[in-house]
Amino acid sequence: MSQQQVERGFTLWFTGLSGAGKTTLTEALVPQLRLRGIAVEVLDGDEVRTNLSKGLGFSKEDRDANIRRIGYVSRLLSRNGVGVIAAAISPYREIRDEVRASVEADGAAFVEVYVKASLDALIARDVKGLYKKALAGEIKQFTGVSDPYEEPVRPEVVVESDRETVEESAAKILSRLEELQLLERARAVR
Ligand code: ADX
Repeated sequence: MSQQQVERGFTLWFTGLSGAGKTTLTEALVPQLRLRGIAVEVLDGDEVRTNLSKGLGFSKEDRDANIRRIGYVSRLLSRNGVGVIAAAISPYREIRDEVRASVEADGAAFVEVYVKASLDALIARDVKGLYKKALAGEIKQFTGVSDPYEEPVRPEVVVESDRETVEESAAKILSRLEELQLLERARAVR
């Protein structure tokens, strides 16, 4: 295995509805990736919207701008060997594909993970109380309720957070990364 392949960074791109478990999964994966000797950075939608994307709302235009910004930083980091986890709803397929193309053009890997959960389960869970408000019409353009979510067509991984434990989903993602030879650095370090 060449040194270059060992050093290959990646962007693990989580997409899915609000409350589907993107952040929870991220928190489970970060220590596991670090244990394998990978430099990890996280770009989480909620957090990015407090700094890099501050002031952006939820129109298609603003969401696209948000995702392009997250994609841009993901590209810069992953082309330098970092394992990036991006966790935003990223509802539009075209923009996700655009980010994939830009990350791959720089020689890094793009791994799309669809964090799937039924709307019923999300409404029942409603951790942030946002679905209740969206259903009552108090929040406009809420993804999955009154705004579109375009499912990935060929994601590298699908996890079903209403049927799997966090540990099962995390294990699924790690084994896919292993298959894609993106955890090689761990072996090189050992
Ligand atoms: S994205 O569409 O631009 O990818 P992002 O992941 O950054 O969205 O932010 C989503 C979070 O913003 C949700 O988890 C939720 O807490 C909050 N939010 C507030 N308003 C909306 C809305 N109209 N649609 C979806 N999420 C919203």
